[in-house]
Amino acid sequence: GDTHYYTFNVQMTNVTRLCVTKSIPTVNGQFPGPKLTVREGDRLVVKVHNHINYNVSFHWHGVRQLRNGWADGPSYITQCPIQGGQSYTYDFTITGQRGTLWWHAHFSWLRVHLYGPLVILPKRGEGYPFPRPYKEVPIHFGEWFNGDTETIINQALLTGGGPNISDAYTFNGLPGPTYNCSAQDMADTYKLKVKPGRTYMLRLINSALNDELFFGIANHTLTVVEADANYVKPFTVQTLVISPGQTMNVLLTTPPNPSSPSYAMAISPYTNTQGTFDNTTAAAILEYAPTPASRMSLPLPSLPLYNDTGAVTNFSRNFRSLASAEYPAVVPQAPDRHVLFTVGLGTDPCNLSNQTCQGPNGTKFAASINNNSFFRPRTALLEAHYQRRYAGVLLANFPTTPPHPFNYTGTPPNNTFVQHGTRVVPLAFNTSVELVLQGTSIQGAESHPLHLHGYDFYVVGQGFGNFDPVNDPPKYNLVDPVERNTISVPTAGWVALRFFADNPGVWLMHCHFDVHLSWGLSMAWLVNDGPLPNQKMLPPPSDLPKC
Ligand code: C2O
Repeated sequence: GDTHYYTFNVQMTNVTRLCVTKSIPTVNGQFPGPKLTVREGDRLVVKVHNHINYNVSFHWHGVRQLRNGWADGPSYITQCPIQGGQSYTYDFTITGQRGTLWWHAHFSWLRVHLYGPLVILPKRGEGYPFPRPYKEVPIHFGEWFNGDTETIINQALLTGGGPNISDAYTFNGLPGPTYNCSAQDMADTYKLKVKPGRTYMLRLINSALNDELFFGIANHTLTVVEADANYVKPFTVQTLVISPGQTMNVLLTTPPNPSSPSYAMAISPYTNTQGTFDNTTAAAILEYAPTPASRMSLPLPSLPLYNDTGAVTNFSRNFRSLASAEYPAVVPQAPDRHVLFTVGLGTDPCNLSNQTCQGPNGTKFAASINNNSFFRPRTALLEAHYQRRYAGVLLANFPTTPPHPFNYTGTPPNNTFVQHGTRVVPLAFNTSVELVLQGTSIQGAESHPLHLHGYDFYVVGQGFGNFDPVNDPPKYNLVDPVERNTISVPTAGWVALRFFADNPGVWLMHCHFDVHLSWGLSMAWLVNDGPLPNQKMLPPPSDLPKC
């Protein structure tokens, strides 16, 4: 493969959205950040210079980083953050993957501004398992906050309440026509120019901080062909739903004779929480012919209601991997380990003096997996593991079964207090794992998009209510389940995943809602080296940042 060299200068840049100018961290002054286009088998060398007053690190979301966790990026997990004035080079090769992935900052909430597409084309001379599209366009869905997001999350952690919600959703960083500062000004609106009678591939990425999103285009259908850089059996829908962290390639075939010069595209939230969330819709324009701004009041596509779990379930049922000779599904058939995790919110006692805690019943909000709220270590776990220096850094006793029986339909337990710890689950090399993620409803039923670093997993089953270890496994799809890196644990339900632990290192798994990540909804797998030389972690790069 080829080698691609990039320089990421992280710097503050003035950006105007919703008619307000604010200074935000950007890569090379661009928002959204630069698009990286490579091929399967290529090597990327990304030199990051941090010129801002915050720590930063970058994650290449969905890249497997075989034996090379040093390039994975989550702060305090695989590396210490890059401090202001310092540099670090991410050096990694894309093996056995092609499709749409993305990169984003992995420190606090900085990914709200620091993100961009990572397009991995098939190897030279290799095509797609569908006709080649006329054009390919990455589209990031995002969130915009008028306030400073670091202040927002720090304030929420201090007071123990929910953080402020975003002020708008965005298409490639643009909030849409409702927010233009003057009637004739379309600068805040994303426009996708298309020709009639062609097929476009939209590379969709949900980079929103805290919201799953519905997406649709008025009078057009979308054919889903790929999820999280894995091909799927194509299926056609009017509306799709995409969780933070997930990517999806969809084909859009334009009619030969469109009846209007422009159509609206829209995104709106899917959530079941009782609390507050950003309940706005952002629009963008699919444009066949130039349309004057005065004629831009286009009918929006009809999207499901914010709490339409039925629509989400129907949509997610469609996903099947290709499971062909060329793209086989290698699903663990008889897992060595069965692990059950409850994922959800919980609370901490509040003992701040002179402060009212804003969580339920005067508590502080927390979030947990099997009641363990992840405690951020002071040094990077991967380095501690590589040096076998665990004392005072991590414990290998992460609970692999829930602490008490859990019934989502019942009344939540009186005591929703979580325990805190930097705990990991150790795995022997190449263990086949079945992981059931069970949603809880301690603070109201809510879905949680769980993302696993370093791996793709097969989604073999999902359902509502409590997982039934006797009656549910016989209904698993072990033939052509979809393979992904991020999956939403359904609202008041469960999802079952399987993977082979064939990538040694320390790999974070967490809710991709940044608010839940900040509250501790994460854990790490510690996958030990295998016996062969090519089953061992690579040595750390010499410029690995220090804490
Ligand atoms: Cu896309 Cu750990 O995140």
